[in-house]
Amino acid sequence: MEKLLANQVALITGASSGIGYGVAQALAAAGAAVVLNYHSHAEAAEKLAEEIRHAGGAALAVQANVSDPSQIEQMFDACRAEFGTVDIVVANSGMQKDSAIADMTLDDWQAVIATNLTGQFLTAQAAVKEFRRRGSRPVSKALGKIICMSSVHEIIPWAGHVNYAASKGGIQMFMKSLAQEVAPERIRVNSIAPGAIRTPINKSAWDSDAALKKLLELIPYGRVGNVEDIGNAAVWLASDQSDYVVGTTLFVDGGMTLYPGFADNG
Ligand code: BGC
Repeated sequence: MEKLLANQVALITGASSGIGYGVAQALAAAGAAVVLNYHSHAEAAEKLAEEIRHAGGAALAVQANVSDPSQIEQMFDACRAEFGTVDIVVANSGMQKDSAIADMTLDDWQAVIATNLTGQFLTAQAAVKEFRRRGSRPVSKALGKIICMSSVHEIIPWAGHVNYAASKGGIQMFMKSLAQEVAPERIRVNSIAPGAIRTPINKSAWDSDAALKKLLELIPYGRVGNVEDIGNAAVWLASDQSDYVVGTTLFVDGGMTLYPGFADNG
């Protein structure tokens, strides 16, 4: 049987670790040629590219800071040079720089907004331009697909993380507004909102028994997520199986957004 994303090209930003890494693996396993963007971990991105090639896929690792427009341009040039175009763009790069409000430096505020919000804007903007430039391809019903990596914190307030929560709250309306703007061109824009996924970004929340117990109280389904949970969702959102899904946030969170504090009669 032909793979779900056969003959398509996917770009994943922040693919050298965590959720981006898992999404890249999943899209490659579904048959897409993948462009693996990384910021500082060249070795991890090159290793993943090599593994994908070894398994019979196609992959290219490309360095870029997603908050820099000229580096975004170079990254899309690299996609075009290697694979001709791109069909699926996962705007995933993200970071946390946590602190209480009085201690949060302007640098920590700006760094998180620059990567998590401005980075997704620049990535999606370049994606839309590339989809328009190359016109439709027989590989998908859509002209192109953009997946924004949001978070449960696009709706759950998060004390001590105002920069991060503001960036993800911003992604919610960025994604919906962009989806509305480009849907008439058959460009599908959606978000995935992961809950607690076992990655380096939240290691302190799951790497001790006490922390894990506390975290599980927030997850009705009773387990921490893994990157495959997000990868599977990304494959579906990138494929024609979700062709009528436009401007939606898909929560993949084991029920974290179900107000678990109310499970026992409030
Ligand atoms: C954050 C993680 C956190 C999870 C659930 C994610 O967006 O990056 O650190 O564990 O949300 O709170």
